[in-house]
Amino acid sequence: MITALQKKYSDSSWNFKEANTKTLTHCYHSYPAMMIPQVAARLIEKFGKNAKLLFDPYCGTGTSLVEANVRNINGIGTDLNPLARLIAKAKTTPIDISVLDKYLNDFDDWIFTLKFNANINNSIITPDFYNIDYWFTKEVQIKLTILKQRIEKIEDESVKNFFFVAFSETIRESSLTRNSEFKLYRISEQRLKNFNPDVFNIFEKKLLRNRNGLIEFLNAKKNNSFSKIYSFNTVEEIPSEILPENSVDIVVTSPPYGDSRTTVAYGQFSRLTNQWLGFSNASNLDKELMGGKRTLKINKFEIPILDETIKKINEKDPLRVRDVYSFYKDYFNSIKNISKVIKNKGFACFVVGNRKVRGITLPTDEITAEIFALNGFRHIETIIRKIPNKKMPSKNSPTNVKGEKDSTMNYEYIVVMQKL
Ligand SMILES: C[S@@+](CC[C@H](N)C(=O)[O-])C[C@H]1O[C@@H](n2cnc3c(N)ncnc32)[C@H](O)[C@@H]1O
Repeated sequence: MITALQKKYSDSSWNFKEANTKTLTHCYHSYPAMMIPQVAARLIEKFGKNAKLLFDPYCGTGTSLVEANVRNINGIGTDLNPLARLIAKAKTTPIDISVLDKYLNDFDDWIFTLKFNANINNSIITPDFYNIDYWFTKEVQIKLTILKQRIEKIEDESVKNFFFVAFSETIRESSLTRNSEFKLYRISEQRLKNFNPDVFNIFEKKLLRNRNGLIEFLNAKKNNSFSKIYSFNTVEEIPSEILPENSVDIVVTSPPYGDSRTTVAYGQFSRLTNQWLGFSNASNLDKELMGGKRTLKINKFEIPILDETIKKINEKDPLRVRDVYSFYKDYFNSIKNISKVIKNKGFACFVVGNRKVRGITLPTDEITAEIFALNGFRHIETIIRKIPNKKMPSKNSPTNVKGEKDSTMNYEYIVVMQKL
């Protein structure tokens, strides 16, 4: 089937060039390829007027769930990355500010005493995960362990998550990774000599910043809506305990751009936190995400634009085509499953990027529309927006050869489909 694209246009009012993307709880934690809240908000307002339930099948840090909740719409999010789920949970959980302040004041008193205690190092047993000494100095390991043990004592789960999210960014900032990169690269030997992060101070600053975000969120969300976040692989059929068929009014999501190995390495970005917090599968996560497992046999999708793209890449690079094919195979199944849970007349808003592989552009926006069409949807519109402020690599390696770069993903395509 070839779907008729109704409208495909660029509109600079969707760029949100000057917008503050760190309002509400969106300030809590950075993450690769985050959706900007203004895009989620505008989509919800345009296509989710009377919506009661929003679903984000690749929810990451829960940007669209937060925007749904402040508009009195419940949210369901799924993601395979434990760090993403921790952040999404914290960002969508209202905490009574007087309760939080009690914990923050206790913490302040505790850390004040700690800072002036000269012998804090002696009895601390630091964790023993793979490569910990490569990524953290001994002093940082001790301080992070002290913080972690203190957070674990917090009995209120929501407050504990709030503290762990600040802890996660503290892990990253006080590690020996280059903070400007998603992937794990160690800082230079030169920088290492003077590297002495003030772990406690970094943590306290994050707590305060996030407290301000929480206050904004509480002020914006004067309703009882809530979000639930599940660990689920959307390539598999969605169980009715998570979402029954025909139950969702609107999907607002940004799926991965391709397999994590050659595009955005969510697993690598999250590995240190996932290891510190003892989340399982910390080192293997990128293989679990869409397209992570290479398929050997290449079959036709019976979608001309997709089959043609796969054929072109196969002609240029018969090895690399397997990554691309494996991703679209998972993507195809994922959309099939997502389609089932959307109500008739409900909307799917997919924010996608058309990356290049081996110099060939992958028209993921049109492919997305075609897959939805196969599942009983019609195309409403595709809006092209420029990406002025998204945290993601603006260059990738189209040949997957180190050093060979090509500009990619300066634009996003917001594909809007409606179930018939
Ligand atoms: C572009 S990010 C989403 C970012 C999110 N919109 C935000 O603002 O934080 C894509 C997410 O898809 C998740 N993901 C990849 N494959 C998945 C799968 N098969 N099932 C569920 N989630 C998956 C990744 O872990 C990642 O968090």
